[in-house]
Amino acid sequence: MTLQGARERRVRTGGVELCVAEWGDPAQPTVVLVHGYPDSKEVWSEVAGRLAERFHVVLYDVRGHGRSTAPRPLRGGFTLEKLTDDFLAVVDAVSPNRPVHLVGHDWGSVQAWEFTTVKRTEGRIASFTSMSGPSLDHFGHWIKKRVSRPTPRRVGQLLGQGAKSWYVYLLHTPVLPELAWRGPLGKQWPKILRRLEKVPTGDYPTSSLPTDAAHGAWLYRDNVRPRLRKPRTDAYAHAPVQLITPLGDAFLSERLYDELELWAPRLVRRTLPAKHWVPRTRPDQLAAWITDFVTATEGGRPAPAVRGPHAERFGGQLVLVTGAGSGIGRATALAFAEAGARVVAVDRNAHGAARTAELCRSAGAPEAWGETVDVSDEQAMEQFAAKVAAEYGVVDVLVNNAGIGLSGSFFDTTAEDWRKVLDVNLWGVIHGCRLFGKQMAERGQGGHIVNTASAAAYLPSRALPAYSTSKAAVLMLSECLRAELAGQGIGVSVICPGFVNTAITSTARFTGVDPDEEERRRKKSARLYGLRNYPPEKVAAAVLRAVVRNQAVVPVTAEARGGRLLSRFAPGALRAIARMKPPL
Ligand SMILES: NC(=O)c1ccc[n+]([C@@H]2O[C@H](COP(=O)([O-])OP(=O)(O)OC[C@H]3O[C@@H](n4cnc5c(N)ncnc54)[C@H](O)[C@@H]3O)[C@@H](O)[C@H]2O)c1
Repeated sequence: MTLQGARERRVRTGGVELCVAEWGDPAQPTVVLVHGYPDSKEVWSEVAGRLAERFHVVLYDVRGHGRSTAPRPLRGGFTLEKLTDDFLAVVDAVSPNRPVHLVGHDWGSVQAWEFTTVKRTEGRIASFTSMSGPSLDHFGHWIKKRVSRPTPRRVGQLLGQGAKSWYVYLLHTPVLPELAWRGPLGKQWPKILRRLEKVPTGDYPTSSLPTDAAHGAWLYRDNVRPRLRKPRTDAYAHAPVQLITPLGDAFLSERLYDELELWAPRLVRRTLPAKHWVPRTRPDQLAAWITDFVTATEGGRPAPAVRGPHAERFGGQLVLVTGAGSGIGRATALAFAEAGARVVAVDRNAHGAARTAELCRSAGAPEAWGETVDVSDEQAMEQFAAKVAAEYGVVDVLVNNAGIGLSGSFFDTTAEDWRKVLDVNLWGVIHGCRLFGKQMAERGQGGHIVNTASAAAYLPSRALPAYSTSKAAVLMLSECLRAELAGQGIGVSVICPGFVNTAITSTARFTGVDPDEEERRRKKSARLYGLRNYPPEKVAAAVLRAVVRNQAVVPVTAEARGGRLLSRFAPGALRAIARMKPPL
């Protein structure tokens, strides 16, 4: 947590002395990281360490924070104008002849918006990456629009953000925040961060916290009310902007950025499952996105392309799909790849998994790996989950899709047949949820689990007792898990497809018949599925939609949707159909 190996210097400006730390080769593009409230530059240490391999990285303690001195008097000493003076003084010192790439978190981002939208910094900023800190001017216009032209939706958005801003009102009260920070709040802060935000606080620097926090209250008092009341009308960004929005931010609503393209026409949006303190909890991801953005801007290219309808939501995220060697799993892995996700394609068929990973890379995944594991093997799955965490990180989206088909009446289904189908279709999902779900929950930044069940989960039949039972169990497991994980920001969806044209028909087992008859039935079912011809790509699209919308149960295909309606409103009709002799 210390900035080991950093070179330090002090920069004097407007009556204060700023503590500035530099890492990396000054000949490389300069990235300036600005911290938020109540932090000091050390909040960036994990991100800065990674960026320093490629860039000249500069961090400074904002006036009144860390080892920078505070203005006297405090009142009026923290205006955005003065903070802009500080930024320019730092840039003059560290990169006098070349524009810098600016990155801000929380109040660091609020002030960096000011830097990026005022005239006097034009030509000094090459790009700006913003996280969890809006422009006060844009925020002011956002409020005005909702107050002057209220619709139920807009009023809801206002109330939503209003409720998240409770601390801003408190910080405007005199003396109270200072007392709180010097007293119990200051002492408890690392614990609060650890509990609520899951920030690893082992070595959180607490010595300067009460003073930093007390000084930082003036950031709010000096700026928030005047700017929200009278926002600037020319607050247009003069540099490309990358907006990173954590989906579980307790202090800022995602809706605040709805109209941001009006102010920042060269905008790239990214989201990630995370809470507010992303520099501490998601340094890998931030460093990767900042590197991409800076490299593209330096190369004179437009910001890295955001492709497809869900690219903003999934770009850069780690997605693991089981049963990805074929059919629905492969199509799902590819759809995430097209949205720019990093994909782990898992299958017991090594060749299929490797091929899917290859296709994912061609489809646009920044990284993709093919991995071989049998999802029904508990020990193998445990080792595999540990390997994924160590080598690729904690999974953001988990798709438990691997499954096998089994057809045959109850008395034709042997105990061994039952074990096989339950081992893969149910235990495979249980292992996936237990192992990867646990990592997600422990990380504490949210995520999503998708389980592939089937319309057979709610459609009784004489032909598929074991398969349908396994899928009904997956449906209920998903519903239970959804309830349990909701409070942790982890969504759970279960996908219930009808007949989808995949290889499942050629590998499914038919019990109670001789091998010739089994082969004949396989061919016949393959023909029927072929005639129905519902492509796995449509199921994949439904999977991505389910994650974006956090849908609970998602029937896919007309027969699955119709069956779901009947199961709820006319179950007797389904029972009558179930008694009929199966076609195969
Ligand atoms: N195709 C359909 O009509 C349909 C309908 C409803 C539900 N589903 C479900 O969708 C999922 C995907 O099926 P599909 O149609 O794409 O079939 P598929 O046979 O094309 O793909 C399934 C993949 O899972 C892999 N797999 C099987 N057992 C595994 C194990 N133990 N460990 C790791 N990988 C394993 C296979 O090697 C294969 O690559 C399954 O759970 C299936 O039950 C399919």
